[in-house]
Amino acid sequence: MPTPRTARPRHYLMCRPTHFTVSYRINPWMDPAKPTDTGLAVLQWERLYALHQELGHTVELIDPLPGLPDMVYAANGATVLDGRALVASFRHPERAAEAPAYRDWFEQRGYPVVHTARHTNEGQGDYLVAGDRILAGSGFRTDRAAHAEAERVLGAPVVGLTLVDPRFYHLDTALAVLDDDIAYYPGAFSPESQETLRALYPDALLADEADAEAFGLNAICDGRHVLLPETAGNLADRLADRGFQPIGVDLSELLKGGGSVKCCTLELHRAEATAGGAR
Ligand code: ARG
Repeated sequence: MPTPRTARPRHYLMCRPTHFTVSYRINPWMDPAKPTDTGLAVLQWERLYALHQELGHTVELIDPLPGLPDMVYAANGATVLDGRALVASFRHPERAAEAPAYRDWFEQRGYPVVHTARHTNEGQGDYLVAGDRILAGSGFRTDRAAHAEAERVLGAPVVGLTLVDPRFYHLDTALAVLDDDIAYYPGAFSPESQETLRALYPDALLADEADAEAFGLNAICDGRHVLLPETAGNLADRLADRGFQPIGVDLSELLKGGGSVKCCTLELHRAEATAGGAR
């Protein structure tokens, strides 16, 4: 019998893909020659937005800005833990102007700490809060040197992991936090980082390449439900074997930018701990 799972209400921040398109290429999934359908992207995103709320979660919105087609990938805007927001500093100039928009959002909501990063980091694309620690990716976007800054600003120990496969350029394309365990695709990590993950999470769910390529690990878990791309069927079955309730989501348009469920959802971790301060 799989372990019974319990959902806990979460607090998310999302950005409607009003200005979504693929007009530049900063990851191998993006092809500006391939047409995008912004209207369809909005419809697919609206479904995810509604789903989070149907599951009992609070979803806040940040205004999309013209000229920033990747702003829909809200996960990259910041990392938030207990009222402290570490704002992203983007690797590519195409996304640089998103950072001040996120900084303003957190400042306007009265977050006690809103830190403008010194080092390049792409928010929850590369920083995943996993219980009391933060799993931190580097290799393509976030600088290794940023990890110490995250540890200091967010006040939680950081475990550095090196990504080696350009298809999985952010940690959240290669690893998903599931309640107290994780799922990951080992091939996305350096041998040393695979060793680290094996030692920390001996029972982790190991995803195969097909699941990873379908962006199955770009999932979001509330303790019970796991929202993931509907094409990651094998991973969904294996999550169900572990007592989770997988819910497939169609974000085919947003996949053209190299992102899916998790990329579109910035989690305001443990916002309840700072209620009043962080709202
Ligand atoms: N086009 C965006 C980029 O390359 C996609 C970001 C996806 N976000 C994520 N959390 N993995 O930056």
